[in-house]
Amino acid sequence: MAKTAPEALLSVRDLTVEFATDAGIITAVDAVSFDLQAGEILALVGESGCGKSATALALLRLIADPPGRIANGEIHFRDRELLSADDATVRDIRGNRIAMIFQEPMTSLNPVYTIGRQLGEPLQLHKNLRGDSLLAKCLALLESVNIPEPRRRLQSYPHQFSGGMRQRMMIAMSMSCDPDIVIADEPTTALDVTIQAQLLELLQAQVANHRAALLLITHNLGVVARYADRVNVMYAGRIVESASADEIYRTPRHPYTIGLLRSVPRLDQPISEKLLPIEGQPPNPLDLPSGCAFHPRCPLAIDKCRAEVPALTRHANGHAVACWVDVRD
Ligand SMILES: Nc1ncnc2c1ncn2[C@@H]1O[C@H](COP(=O)(O)OP(=O)(O)O)[C@@H](O)[C@H]1O
Ligand SMILES: [Mg+2]
Repeated sequence: MAKTAPEALLSVRDLTVEFATDAGIITAVDAVSFDLQAGEILALVGESGCGKSATALALLRLIADPPGRIANGEIHFRDRELLSADDATVRDIRGNRIAMIFQEPMTSLNPVYTIGRQLGEPLQLHKNLRGDSLLAKCLALLESVNIPEPRRRLQSYPHQFSGGMRQRMMIAMSMSCDPDIVIADEPTTALDVTIQAQLLELLQAQVANHRAALLLITHNLGVVARYADRVNVMYAGRIVESASADEIYRTPRHPYTIGLLRSVPRLDQPISEKLLPIEGQPPNPLDLPSGCAFHPRCPLAIDKCRAEVPALTRHANGHAVACWVDVRD
């Protein structure tokens, strides 16, 4: 097992998440290990169903049990191991040290309370702010995410905000307690494309201002190019490639990553370039292919790929890949 880098803010080791379904047990996250450094933007990328949300929820111990279960692993955050920490410790870390932004803000906003109340609550709870200082902090937060007429907006209810405004409000909320880490799970997927870019830029600026690390989860590898420092590519519950964003875009090594790159429009390439969807569908988690789960869709698969699961193997420049066929050879 890889040794924990001493400077890592968050170290995830062998994280395994299972869900019990009528048809059997799904291993949604299968022995996933990665580090998040302070101030870093780390993207977690892969098709729908590959285990991105389950990974994010497990980091905050938010997997609903039942049907879910964290079957194995360790999550080291600063001097704590979160999977064995008591509930009070985890509650304090959640929202205060590690904040989360979901794809659909209405899942985390309460429709019957004003924006002001919902923005203020964590500040009262974790920062002990009251009265004028609480109001001033709430106004400053809304201003920092460019919400016009913040004083009036504090009295609004979530449904009176547009989708983009609600997500900016979620960014403000996530920053309110100066967290060390923000986890954003497909924060822009529900929004239209022009607003997506604005929102990602806002998120990037906000984490930089607050010196927070960001775990940016998305199914769209084209979107993260401009924002991420590192990229972890996930397939069928496993990390199959991990490298700096630069390396992933210039010299991808896993055939799945290459397929993802060919299947999404890139901001840094001419639009005329032909998009090639990856053949086939992601596997059924109840009936995963033998060996490398990607082999039935892989144009380069050899016999060994059908027989043995390739381990994530580290190469130069911190570039790791789980593949029996090295596309560089
Ligand atoms: N509550 C649940 N009950 C049963 N299966 C689940 C549940 N949540 C997620 N899964 C399964 O776990 C796998 C990973 O899901 P998820 O983490 O949501 O994927 P992603 O976020 O990458 O789209 C999928 O096969 C999904 O069907
Ligand atoms: Mg998801």
